[in-house]
Amino acid sequence: MCGIVGYLGQKNTKEILLEGLKELEYRGYDSAGIAVLSDGEFSSFKAVGKLVNLEEKTKDFVTDAFAAGIGHTRWATHGKPTELNAHPHVGASSYVVHNGIIENYAPLKKELQNEGVTFLSQTDTEVIVHQFEKNQKKSTNSFEAFKKTISELEGAYAILLVTKSEDDTIFFAKNGSPMLMGINAENEKYFASSDTPLIGQCSDVNYFEDGDYGYVNADEIVIFDKMGNKKEPHFTKLSTNKLSAQKDGYRFFMEKEIYEQSSVISDTLLGRLSEDAVVFDEIDTSLFDSINEIKLCACGTSYHSALCASYMFERHAKIKTSVEVASELRYREPVLTQDTLFVVISQSGETADTLETLKMAKAAGLKTLVICNVDNSSMVRMADASILTRAGVEKGVASTKAFATQVVVFWMLSLYVAKRNNSMQTQEIAEQISLLREIPKSVIVEDSMHERIKRLSKRYLHGHGFFFIGRDLFYPLALEGALKLKEISYLHAEGYPSGEMKHGPIALADPELFTIALLPKHLLYEKSRSNAEELSARDSTICAISPIEFDKADDFIKTKEHGHYMLEFFEMMVVVQLLSLEISIRLGNDVDMPRNLAKSVTVE
Ligand code: G6P
Repeated sequence: MCGIVGYLGQKNTKEILLEGLKELEYRGYDSAGIAVLSDGEFSSFKAVGKLVNLEEKTKDFVTDAFAAGIGHTRWATHGKPTELNAHPHVGASSYVVHNGIIENYAPLKKELQNEGVTFLSQTDTEVIVHQFEKNQKKSTNSFEAFKKTISELEGAYAILLVTKSEDDTIFFAKNGSPMLMGINAENEKYFASSDTPLIGQCSDVNYFEDGDYGYVNADEIVIFDKMGNKKEPHFTKLSTNKLSAQKDGYRFFMEKEIYEQSSVISDTLLGRLSEDAVVFDEIDTSLFDSINEIKLCACGTSYHSALCASYMFERHAKIKTSVEVASELRYREPVLTQDTLFVVISQSGETADTLETLKMAKAAGLKTLVICNVDNSSMVRMADASILTRAGVEKGVASTKAFATQVVVFWMLSLYVAKRNNSMQTQEIAEQISLLREIPKSVIVEDSMHERIKRLSKRYLHGHGFFFIGRDLFYPLALEGALKLKEISYLHAEGYPSGEMKHGPIALADPELFTIALLPKHLLYEKSRSNAEELSARDSTICAISPIEFDKADDFIKTKEHGHYMLEFFEMMVVVQLLSLEISIRLGNDVDMPRNLAKSVTVE
């Protein structure tokens, strides 16, 4: 998804902007650009594709004086990923970068075109700069024009704008898309759409609220709120722990992140387990007072962890639980009752669809909780309570360790609620806690396992589709396995409940239909096995993942003997992740930045 950086100061502006954009690469993008205003002169560069292309274009460009610079990585929403559509967008004497969507751009554009303005791009963003310049002509100063422009925009935005007539100033506005500003002792000002570009550059940051707008120059930071009242920035300390962007010898970030799962799950558990209880210091048990139902809502991988949660909440905590895809919930006029705890799940905390459902639930007066990986993200700031998954920065677009930690948090939360609701005996909870402590071991990637999957992967590069099948909790895991595969291999894959295959999909079975069968020993083994046999009998090519040998399979990946199905779940999760990874690598795809996908989708 699009990323924004901005810089105002004396240092090497070009380098600062490019370095900042690199920190945002993991969000996914298809073009990038920068504009630097120094001593009344603009320099602007844009390039399609990876940032190295932009670096190449700017290699002779030197920035060694005070400057105001803005930069952007774009993920196409309006208009194809071309250089003309890349940001910054230019007017007669101003440049703008923007994240989000200007919903009323079409009527604004029409009016401007009628007035003789020529548009260079197909983007919604370009109207901002032309509307601003139109207002500039009628205003006494540029800020007045900027303020008027913002009031005319509808939709979601984080905007940075620079203009020649005030060459020491950056104008900003934020509504519905994330943006923060950072400062340091050297009187530099930084902007970004997330923390990462600012770590190591700034000591303190101010997270803008929706409706905030204003400007900065060398001497001032001026912020107004959505009511037009001047407000003081609220600075908080920024972490100095810059997470290494390096791959530590792994071929891809995704691979590194799969291997990291053991240690990040240990972090997720840290300080949250006693002998017979789960402890969440960040929430109060009163959050569950008068709650008779839990509604979970998310997108993509996070939706799959929510599905896992629904099995655990009902099984452990005996509480009615429903799961919703965020983009559906938004418009289907759901009945939201006050006895429901509304839980959103998001790795990034910024996904627009999920964020909007959180707003809906709040507006309906529900208590809200977010399970999130990013502190200070929009969802964390908005929800009544939050539990962080502690997976660390996840750079691979295809989520792995974030999913793993989400499921761990949900397992813990189901026990937390079970204790509160007296739905499980203390002894049973204690047993589950011992199992939780075993997860980090169950997800360690053994060389022999990785090698086996690497070898097998060469047999799964074609065919007319994959069915990942599983029962109970292994059904959402099947969904997640299929999503991983399609995200990074571009092969068609579906997750299905094993028992449902006979109700239609089995018609597809032939040797070119690949079935990845999840067959845990400790959960409905016989039932799952006979479903896989039904497919084998119809000549589907079967790859069985199980601790128990399965002679009807063409390929077999033997998992370890575990005492409980939850530990089988986590080991099989690693197996399906590695299988997708190896298939994608063999197909020569960009594993970390698959085509058409973005790490964080902050538009509808
Ligand atoms: C995008 C990503 C998915 C991710 C989904 C939800 O679509 O490509 O991998 O699962 O967003 O993201 P979130 O940050 O809300 O978990």
